[in-house]
Amino acid sequence: MKNIAVVADIHLHDLHGGYGLNDGQGRAFAFRTFEDTVASTRVFNESYPALIATLDDIARRGLRDVVLLGDYSDDGQPAAVAALKEILSHYETRHDLRFFATFGNHDCFGPAAREQAKRLNLGEGRSRTLVTSDEGAAPPAIASPFMRGMSTAEAMKAMADCGLVRPKEVFHWETPFGDRTGLDERYPPGGDPTQPDASYLVEPQEGLWLLVLDANVFSKVEGGWQVEANAAWDHVLARRSYLPGWIEDVARRAARLGKTLLAFSHYPALPLALSGKGSEVAAIGTPEWLSRMPSLESGRRLAKAGLRWHFSGHMHVAGHVTLDGLTNIAVPSPVAYPGGYVIVQVENETVDIETVSMPDTPGFNVAFAAYAAETGTAGAPHPMLDATTYEGFLEAHLRQLVITRHLPKDWPELGDCLDAPHGSPSPVLTALEAYYLHRARGLTASATDELALLHSQKMAFGGNA
Ligand SMILES: [Fe+2]
Repeated sequence: MKNIAVVADIHLHDLHGGYGLNDGQGRAFAFRTFEDTVASTRVFNESYPALIATLDDIARRGLRDVVLLGDYSDDGQPAAVAALKEILSHYETRHDLRFFATFGNHDCFGPAAREQAKRLNLGEGRSRTLVTSDEGAAPPAIASPFMRGMSTAEAMKAMADCGLVRPKEVFHWETPFGDRTGLDERYPPGGDPTQPDASYLVEPQEGLWLLVLDANVFSKVEGGWQVEANAAWDHVLARRSYLPGWIEDVARRAARLGKTLLAFSHYPALPLALSGKGSEVAAIGTPEWLSRMPSLESGRRLAKAGLRWHFSGHMHVAGHVTLDGLTNIAVPSPVAYPGGYVIVQVENETVDIETVSMPDTPGFNVAFAAYAAETGTAGAPHPMLDATTYEGFLEAHLRQLVITRHLPKDWPELGDCLDAPHGSPSPVLTALEAYYLHRARGLTASATDELALLHSQKMAFGGNA
């Protein structure tokens, strides 16, 4: 039996004193703020205990090979990546784990590094400090070179030993570029050396081929570089003309040699919710969700190239969908509801996929005192801070996102209908929460019912369906 773990979107924040905030009294905490946490689709400070809990669970189950499906860092900061590498190194040394990584849209920023700034605090009762990569920032802001976002070339160097160069003790390893295996040679002849492609194929266990695809392509926008993260695979296929041919060749060889081929990239290869069959198949979701999905045509091209299994992160949800023989497994993030990771077991020709819920996460409340100090003592504590389990914390985070983010973005017409008489729960809010909770868990049929209900309510309140 062959098996691997797939971990998506860890978004590791350097909790322990990076960014020049260590005050000399040992390893200080450097918390992201609660204000930023409630506005984001992920939690930040909890990434540290969540990664430890996930890797402990993987090691306890006796798994060895782990694919990191991109967005392994908070935002590609050298401090966050150094913290990640320290943790990975511990598990490599102590538990014999091996890591194979690809990039997400938060790990690297194309031909040039990206200037960034975040508000951090040093713990309970401490005021927020702006930490910026801008060397010329005036106090009280703190300038730190460890805050900027890495260029792709920097990220490739930093993660080189996570599969980007040929690892020791694997049965096979290659890139799309033949014998151009140097980190600075990962582009096709005549291509753009500043836009490398970090894709590779590796065989860590005999008979198991992991096709790890770098699906970040960048466009120049107003003097800077922007990753094409929405409908990413549409952009990848349009810009990397050599890629379908390589995938097809890999799939053909895998079939001939009796290898099980599993493909991985940060972005969905198929829309994550489909309705209908045959020529009636259509992607479903809210407009914002659909704008992030690839076209059906892209999925069909990847299926035609020979992919049968593709694992994606990016959307921070679980679930799976199949089209033309290609199944896309959405791997949940440890830092967004419902939390978790995926285990794949391969025996003979059978591929078995298990989505594992987040294990117990000791220390998930590491920042609660800082959050309480930030939000003040007046009024009831925020529901997230009432959570007694990590799963409960993630669920409370998503429930408040429904009000603060999803409702205004996706359903502005329904904002006036949340009040219910006699203190009973608002049916609109109940339907909204049910939709987003089901969507995060990949319960497509339930989410479709809730979506239809919300559309009917939107119609009733004068919106366009
Ligand atoms: Fe992410």
